[in-house]
Amino acid sequence: MTARTINFGVIGCGLMGREFASAAARWAHLADPKTGKTLPFAPRITAVCDTNPAMMSWFTENFNSVSVATDDYQALLSDPSIEAIYCAVPHNLHASLYTDIVRAGKHLLGEKPFGIDLAANTAINTVLAKHPDVLVRCSSEFPFFPIPTRIIQWIQAGRFGRIIEVEAGFWHSSDLDPNKPINWKRMIDLNGEYGCLGDLGMHVMHIPFRVGWNPQNVRALLSNIITERPGPDGKPVPCETWDNAILACEATADGDVFPMTISTKRIAPGEMNTWFIRVMGTEFSAEYSTKDYKRVKTLPYQPGGAQAWHVEDVGYKSVYPAITGGIFEFGFSDGILQMWAAFCDELVNGRDGMQQPFYCATPSEAEHSHHLFTAALESQKTGQVVPVSWH
Ligand SMILES: NC(=O)c1ccc[n+]([C@@H]2O[C@H](COP(=O)([O-])OP(=O)(O)OC[C@H]3O[C@@H](n4cnc5c(N)ncnc54)[C@H](O)[C@@H]3O)[C@@H](O)[C@H]2O)c1
Repeated sequence: MTARTINFGVIGCGLMGREFASAAARWAHLADPKTGKTLPFAPRITAVCDTNPAMMSWFTENFNSVSVATDDYQALLSDPSIEAIYCAVPHNLHASLYTDIVRAGKHLLGEKPFGIDLAANTAINTVLAKHPDVLVRCSSEFPFFPIPTRIIQWIQAGRFGRIIEVEAGFWHSSDLDPNKPINWKRMIDLNGEYGCLGDLGMHVMHIPFRVGWNPQNVRALLSNIITERPGPDGKPVPCETWDNAILACEATADGDVFPMTISTKRIAPGEMNTWFIRVMGTEFSAEYSTKDYKRVKTLPYQPGGAQAWHVEDVGYKSVYPAITGGIFEFGFSDGILQMWAAFCDELVNGRDGMQQPFYCATPSEAEHSHHLFTAALESQKTGQVVPVSWH
């Protein structure tokens, strides 16, 4: 069968733009969950856009399909042959670019946090509401890793019993180096006042939001540890954004309140892209961290029974099957590939017709994250417990 091709334009050809292009280049890796054959749809990158021309040469050198390379994203939006856009630009540009993309009728996988702040996010959602036929999803790949996928299934099946406590986080460490030069992710006007929350928070909240664990309130502890960094000429410039965040929240599951601790850290010594989740329940507990990326710990419990942790290695088993042998390891770029498959599947088949049921993070889930982060900033300022508003 000939695959249905989706012509994509990429706006923002940096770190994440390349990840998407690399995923598109190994599409044959994936299989259809229903037939086991090659997926009946595939992305093709036909146009790229970056205001820095040097960023586009990697695309034009590696992808014969790219016929347009421009510094003006409007050229992609006015091209009727382009069906969808992947947009990975600094946070200050999300509102203007995402709304232009959607107004042009292009489907969009946009990068988190979907707006530099709550006002920008509201502006995006106002335009989305007027274009219900356009598929818009927010990039967040960790739930597509094999073990997080399982944990979601266990939560949705009610396996944990009453939830005792949840802890989830995403930790980096490279900012421990005070000589690391400043970049846009450390500047409030480009990255946003949320700092590390805007950068890392949606990754942590994707699973809690998907299973309905919306925090009702938050007590925030935010820290700015390295307050100056070398600027472009090597001289120190202010580094204003929050480096680390610890949010203590109350959430509910089946009417019962439980504590949820969320942490996003750019300065967690020794941690390199460590994403983790721990769910403790009265009947079952589970722990997973990308630090020990193929291992899941679980503790099934019956009253009076033993409390013994079970440790299991899990191979390559995500939501879409792949040519990779089941015993082999799964990594970051595999998570990206699986997320892309879910986006393309939903674009072609609609939510109800997807080859498997797990869909990408929605604009509504991204909006939830803005309400949480905005309340966290307020809590930091006032030292108070701040309610999180939901729509
Ligand atoms: N999903 C993930 O795991 C993940 C990881 C890192 C970053 N991100 C997100 O991806 C987005 C981009 O981050 P990045 O790390 O790729 O940044 P980056 O700095 O590597 O790339 C951004 C690119 O956008 C380009 N750009 C800036 N203004 C532009 C404009 N007006 N038109 C076209 N291009 C423009 C820049 O020149 C740059 O090449 C952010 O929203 C970030 O939060 C997501």
